[in-house]
Amino acid sequence: MPVPRVRDFHDDDLDQVVRVWEESRTSGQRAVHGLAEVLAAIREDGFAVVAVVGEVVVGAAVTRVSGDRGWVVLLALANDWRGRGLGSAMLTELEKRLMGRGVHRLSALLAPGETGEKAFRNRGYEPRDLTYFERIVPLQPQEVGLLAKLGGRMLHAGLWEALAGMEHEKEIIERRIVLPLVDPDLAAAYGVQPPRAVVLFGPPGTGKTTFAKAVASRLAWPFVEVFPSRLAAAGGGQALALRETFAEIEELEHAVVFIDEVEEIAGRRGGKPPSPLQGVTNELLKIIPAFRESDGRLLVCATNFVRALDPALLRHGRFDYVIPVGAPDAAARAAIWRRYIPAGVLERVDVDALVAASELFTPADIEFAARKGSQGALEAGVYGAEEQRPEVRGPATADYLSALAGTRPTLTTTIVDEFTEDIASIARL
Ligand SMILES: Nc1ncnc2c1ncn2[C@@H]1O[C@H](COP(=O)(O)OP(=O)(O)OP(=O)(O)O)[C@@H](O)[C@H]1O
Ligand SMILES: [Mg+2]
Repeated sequence: MPVPRVRDFHDDDLDQVVRVWEESRTSGQRAVHGLAEVLAAIREDGFAVVAVVGEVVVGAAVTRVSGDRGWVVLLALANDWRGRGLGSAMLTELEKRLMGRGVHRLSALLAPGETGEKAFRNRGYEPRDLTYFERIVPLQPQEVGLLAKLGGRMLHAGLWEALAGMEHEKEIIERRIVLPLVDPDLAAAYGVQPPRAVVLFGPPGTGKTTFAKAVASRLAWPFVEVFPSRLAAAGGGQALALRETFAEIEELEHAVVFIDEVEEIAGRRGGKPPSPLQGVTNELLKIIPAFRESDGRLLVCATNFVRALDPALLRHGRFDYVIPVGAPDAAARAAIWRRYIPAGVLERVDVDALVAASELFTPADIEFAARKGSQGALEAGVYGAEEQRPEVRGPATADYLSALAGTRPTLTTTIVDEFTEDIASIARL
């Protein structure tokens, strides 16, 4: 076998380096540094060497310099050249060049099983017991401007976990929506098509918007809310503006698109002459099938009046699921109370009593009552008569009960009954 020669990288080696890079990635093996990062290091101020046999590149090594540290971002060998000391030879050459630049600390991160471990050990690199943290924000740099234009944003992680109670709704959404979107390959293995569009319905304040945002946070996809009522004006009217907005959304690689109060633009059509809104409804009916064609996007529509929606919208094929988000049951109310009562006083608050007193209260009502109770206690603690101030600081059960007594619940038995009927006749899980 001929002896390879190690020399500096030249621009016209690039195609061959990429080939070697691909070859060195045996199936499923993950490198810490992606190709784009390696190419950036070559282009910017890094050092790169290649091992060649005649004109053929059989190995490549690339470093990036950062202060007095040189990071080896690529050490790749063509398959036939593994275990022949070529990796060490390339590291030696890089080291010489790096020394000249004042680098005296050389580092490399290797994924388990990635090529190069032997070469690094041979060249005196020592494994360090470190924990490597990585978070991938799935927004491409070129999408940032578009997202800002659409009024979208990345929501912070943890909103899903912050959703208190509502275990039943959470379980359905986790299984039907999140799971297939997070792991489309697994879903495909079971013949499951990831959902593209869902409707959340339920009385006001039950957490529909909160759920939509939590799903975006859980998926780490940008959240884009479309406000049909704000789309008008732009000349061509609402329908055209809606179409244009969705065309722009199409350019995002991932997105949770949210339309709240969808009944405003997709109420039952009918009546003569047709109202201008019918054009918008028709447009939405056309947009959804097109939206469904691409991966990586989820449309979430929310409504308080699911029975007012145009039946064509709810027909199979447009929305995968029509999911009820109802009043919290006792367990959910307990979880929501615990969420809004400060941790320091939770121990001496009788949550069961609050749960019992907050039937027909939505999460939004409970949040309101909890804040009001805390505020009342704060005021009493500061401005109340000295002798009436509690010994221990902070709100107590009585503060929350009195706040509850002064808060009107959103739900009524009529609303709950109607919602139950809607579940029976319209929900699709
Ligand atoms: N499971 C929950 N845990 C804690 N807080 C919640 C939960 N669900 C909702 N909330 C709180 O209740 C308030 C109202 O929730 P949200 O806006 O999501 O309700 P909604 O169903 O979208 O209401 P609407 O129908 O009026 O749009 C928010 O401040 C939210 O933080
Ligand atoms: Mg809402």
